[in-house]
Amino acid sequence: MNQTSSPEIVIGATSAFEAFDEFLSTHSFSRIFIVVDENTLRHCLPRLMHETANLEGAEIIELESGEENKVIDVCTQVWRVLGELGADRQSLVVNLGGGVITDLGGFVAATFKRGIAFVNVPTTLLAMIDAACGGKTGVDLDHLKNEVGVFAYPRRVYIDPYFLHTLPKRELLSGFAEACKHALIADAAYWELLCLTDPGNAEHWEHIIARSVEIKQAITDADPFEKDLRRILNFGHTIGHAFETYFLEQSQNTLLHGEAVAAGMICETLLSVKYAGLDEEVAAQITTQLARRFPVVNFDASAGERLVEIMRHDKKNADGKIKCSLLAGIGKPVAGVEVSAGDLIQVMNQYRLEFVI
Ligand SMILES: NC(=O)c1ccc[n+]([C@@H]2O[C@H](COP(=O)([O-])OP(=O)(O)OC[C@H]3O[C@@H](n4cnc5c(N)ncnc54)[C@H](O)[C@@H]3O)[C@@H](O)[C@H]2O)c1
Ligand SMILES: [Zn+2]
Repeated sequence: MNQTSSPEIVIGATSAFEAFDEFLSTHSFSRIFIVVDENTLRHCLPRLMHETANLEGAEIIELESGEENKVIDVCTQVWRVLGELGADRQSLVVNLGGGVITDLGGFVAATFKRGIAFVNVPTTLLAMIDAACGGKTGVDLDHLKNEVGVFAYPRRVYIDPYFLHTLPKRELLSGFAEACKHALIADAAYWELLCLTDPGNAEHWEHIIARSVEIKQAITDADPFEKDLRRILNFGHTIGHAFETYFLEQSQNTLLHGEAVAAGMICETLLSVKYAGLDEEVAAQITTQLARRFPVVNFDASAGERLVEIMRHDKKNADGKIKCSLLAGIGKPVAGVEVSAGDLIQVMNQYRLEFVI
């Protein structure tokens, strides 16, 4: 049966794997399967195996990296391999990778034989503070992100910040956008800390990961099935997801999730002034900080209508209405604010004029 309560999350270089080893020694899994991609196979698997003796003998299932592989066909291949290798309901799946691996591997485990146990060992900053912890699993369908999936929590999440050493800087920055989101929706002091942090050269990842995980977990625990409160985690994501889908459609697959969300947060901060009473000076401080750190998302002036159409079809919206989670202040989120198409187009144009052109 799939786990329905939030998992224990252990963060710490080596201490995470001591805890994982202990977990494995106190559970008798019939077989263990480790899902990796070619990058985590090379950079992360040796350390995991070295630090976690009880993983000896585990089967490795290697997938091709990349969002384009987060699709049902790949799940089918993994379900087949699990079946062929004799996985049963007492088996364990370990997802070692970024959000693509934890989303897909979690979905595969949560649906195989109606659900077998899985553990996430996230290896990107984005997966550590977001994808691996919240209990959402799934895959994309025809360019629609996360269109098919289930809510299912991993049994445990083990986070070793050491893995960030080999992560490309662009990927690191993408995860940093989610940390900024956590700060903006929940904690002004954390936002101040992030404003002073150089993500390319940070020494306190463990602290950043811990604070972000704490914020995300407090919100998801209060609303595990995304009925209400959890929507505040969507700050920056209504517009951010539209950018992501738009770029996928244009086959300009060069936009990372965090890059799209950073641009989305800038636009939604501008909307917050009109729709949530956010102070203009605070809004300017937020947009300046975000624009300084994250690459601009460069889209055509004619893209506005299509972007709005994509937002209307977002699974989080209903009746053709577009809702955003905005900010009344730093740490003061307001969920479910209905926004007009005209204002969405206007802020996206403002973003283009101020930050792109
Ligand atoms: N389930 C959720 O709640 C949730 C939340 C946010 C994002 N997501 C999903 O997460 C996905 C994005 O995740 P991501 O940004 O981690 O991308 P990713 O999984 O594609 O990883 C990014 C790249 O880094 C490589 N990599 C991973 N760890 C590495 C390491 N330690 N060293 C070197 N290379 C490494 C990967 O092979 C890949 O090429 C998207 O599909 C998104 O929809 C899910
Ligand atoms: Zn996100």
